[in-house]
Amino acid sequence: MKHLSVNHLLGIKYLNKDDINLIFHLANSFKEVLNRPIKKVPTLRDLTVANLFFESSTRTRISFELAQKRLGADVVNFSAGTSSLSKGESLIDTANNILAMKVDVIVLRHSNPGAAEFLSNHVKSVIVNAGDGSHEHPTQALLDAFSIREKLGSIKNKKVLIIGDVKHSRVALSNIFCLQKLGAKVRVCGPSTLIPKYLNKLDVEVSHNLKESLEWCDVANILRIQLERQKNNFFPSNREYAMLFGVNQELLSSLSQDILLLHPGPINRGVEVTSDVVDSHNSIVLNQVENGVAIRMAILYLLAAKIKR
Ligand code: CP
Repeated sequence: MKHLSVNHLLGIKYLNKDDINLIFHLANSFKEVLNRPIKKVPTLRDLTVANLFFESSTRTRISFELAQKRLGADVVNFSAGTSSLSKGESLIDTANNILAMKVDVIVLRHSNPGAAEFLSNHVKSVIVNAGDGSHEHPTQALLDAFSIREKLGSIKNKKVLIIGDVKHSRVALSNIFCLQKLGAKVRVCGPSTLIPKYLNKLDVEVSHNLKESLEWCDVANILRIQLERQKNNFFPSNREYAMLFGVNQELLSSLSQDILLLHPGPINRGVEVTSDVVDSHNSIVLNQVENGVAIRMAILYLLAAKIKR
């Protein structure tokens, strides 16, 4: 069997194209398993995984847990709110105490950019980044690209538009790295206050014209406006944002071709996208969620293969 070039999944920036294609190849097989009446392949019966979520999550946490259980792994879940963090315990001490109970893999969601990489340098465990602040969300980008490929056949030369709050988004950066490694052209569109300056170093087009950008693209990935991080008034109001950068049916109907629509969730219906668009035939948001389990099974399987047990 082929192997990943990495021992942890810290970010898409550390993966090469062969790694991504290997993950997709295996995810296809696992997707087939997930559509059987018995959705289990107990190949990781000897593995114990701890899901350490220091930030809230619905999709990623449940998807990782299901992926682990479908592979037969033992699973423990940690939520910051009910842990000894409130007594001042550090991230490294927390991780080392959990690892002392013979845990092999840590899946980490944390609000600090670089938290997963930091932990990988300080503890003896495989680390999987489940989202680190506004930095990377590698499994989301992999499931997004896998879902696009499933619908369009290939990523190469496809024009992918990322709309909205790029500044606060870990999904955006991971998607940019992943799509570019697979040969897509990437453009971002949003208010200038939500587009970070570093993008000009990443060969990404920037536009502030939503209608023209939607006409340009084959695929649009609509980002969540991160309302909890809008302390600095990056735009005047949700209503004004929706008028200028919200995706609605009127805009989509005016385009010369149908486009594929993605959203990583959770969705602010009526802000970055209208409800009818989310629920339309163009939208593949629930396919993304479905594919997330197969993608995470593939990653856990490939990383577990690198552990000497
Ligand atoms: N897409 C995503 O990461 O969603 P959650 O925050 O619910 O995990």
